[in-house]
Amino acid sequence: MTSTFTEIPEQYQIKNLVHQNTYLVGGELKKWNGETSNVYSTISSTEDYQPTLLGGIPTLGKTEALEALDAACDAYGKGQGLWPTMKVANRIACMEKFVEQMKTKRDEVVKLLMWEIGKNLPDSQKEFDRTVEYIYDTIEDYKQMDRDSAKFEKHDGVHAHIRRGPLGIVLCLGPYNYPLNETFALLIPAIMMGNTTIFKPAKHGVLLLSPLLEAFQNSFPKGVVNIIYGRGRTVATPIMETGRIDVLALIGNSKSANALQSHHPRQNRLRLVLGLEAKNPAIILKDADLDLAISECISGTLSFNGQRCTALKVLYVHEDIVEEFNKRFSKKVDALNFGNPWDKGAQLTPLPEPEKPQYIQELIDDALEKGAEIVNAKGGETTPNYIFPAVLYPVNKEMRVFEEEQFGPVIPVLSFKDIEEPMSDIADSNYGQQVSLFGSDVKTLAPLIDTLVNLVCRVNLNSSCQRGPDVYPFTGRKDSAVATLSVHDALRSFSIRTFVASKDNDYNNAILNNLLDSKASNFVSTDYIL
Ligand code: G3H
Repeated sequence: MTSTFTEIPEQYQIKNLVHQNTYLVGGELKKWNGETSNVYSTISSTEDYQPTLLGGIPTLGKTEALEALDAACDAYGKGQGLWPTMKVANRIACMEKFVEQMKTKRDEVVKLLMWEIGKNLPDSQKEFDRTVEYIYDTIEDYKQMDRDSAKFEKHDGVHAHIRRGPLGIVLCLGPYNYPLNETFALLIPAIMMGNTTIFKPAKHGVLLLSPLLEAFQNSFPKGVVNIIYGRGRTVATPIMETGRIDVLALIGNSKSANALQSHHPRQNRLRLVLGLEAKNPAIILKDADLDLAISECISGTLSFNGQRCTALKVLYVHEDIVEEFNKRFSKKVDALNFGNPWDKGAQLTPLPEPEKPQYIQELIDDALEKGAEIVNAKGGETTPNYIFPAVLYPVNKEMRVFEEEQFGPVIPVLSFKDIEEPMSDIADSNYGQQVSLFGSDVKTLAPLIDTLVNLVCRVNLNSSCQRGPDVYPFTGRKDSAVATLSVHDALRSFSIRTFVASKDNDYNNAILNNLLDSKASNFVSTDYIL
């Protein structure tokens, strides 16, 4: 691959570094005078390649981490805090205030998304807009949830007023590939339901939160959102060791999730909301519309360079069509444009993890050694921040690329004669998020669909795998996820049903009426939010 340096447009040049020298704890943006870590982009600002310095973040330690935990616990106030007891309408007003301010920061956040994680301009804009929309949808769904519970039930002589209540203190950790969207898809519903939170941004995609810190600070009561920086091991581990965390909300890898869970001394008390690894397969049957299958597999394997948990990470193609598939698919892969995120039409962009090209190269070398070939002409070409996607065929189960979640630009292809081969691999896999199934004969598709829905959580018919639309359930079986996320499900995942019950007698009923009429309780209320 030849040098890809092109002049950076004026508005995207890094002119001022983002020196994040505060962290948000207990409603205060505290000044940090200690050690800091530089944040670099793997994108070069000069023709001779070198990473670009973007700014720095505080390297906080155990003391600051526990300070954030204390702030979140104080705000929860053993259930008596302002936030967990606040009227739903007032919590919604805080969230609306936040999102209105957030919208004004779009350009700053989008620019940092491009530099920090290399996501191209349209996808960075989409990530921002989708997140804003997610917040509005969450507000609407919460209103509906509140309307649905603005009533009493009566069974066997017992009145019940049932709502969903918060779980307590949430530790929230997001991934680098969607540092805004996926993190907020945890944080926003957690806050909305009345929990208090400690949030540590991912290693890559951290500075883009700086423009939003003040909005967090001035929209929510102190201690509801605490934002800390530093290494997971240094800040998240001591927080877990206290046993004071009620929910671990993490999208990332299971190694960190397992390690963090294991530090909690009272594990039955810890709720988990986890989005972990996946190895989503595509199955291309011999009667599939090949043009459609190829174009969906291109976006499925390579949008954002394959750095999506929902990416297609292994392709199973029927042996009768595999040669044709490989020829046409490879041609399309080689035709993809590599460029910097702001370059018009850039489909492949620099990898944000400096060590990723080397890792992908290792997967390729291992596969070649074990009998695969690189099918496409440009596969494996490297620059300092990229490795061009290699289409590998024939891949077998001994190869690392078959087993490991590559989370990057390399595409393993296997052929099958009997559909039982991919079906049994999917059943044996450690993962169970989604599958893409390409074909048209209903008699063939029907039994496959009926089985696949029992092995994964979304069967995408003639289309690539994806999380959206965000109103649909996003989850996985086996090692891929714990709990379900969607606009609606996330509100449920971060809350628990809790209720007031009273026996049906004059004494109790008079008190209930009084509670309702006086509007003295924020929980016992049949007010209807429009
Ligand atoms: O990294 C996993 C994301 O949830 C994928 O979301 O399918 O919308 O790209 P997406």
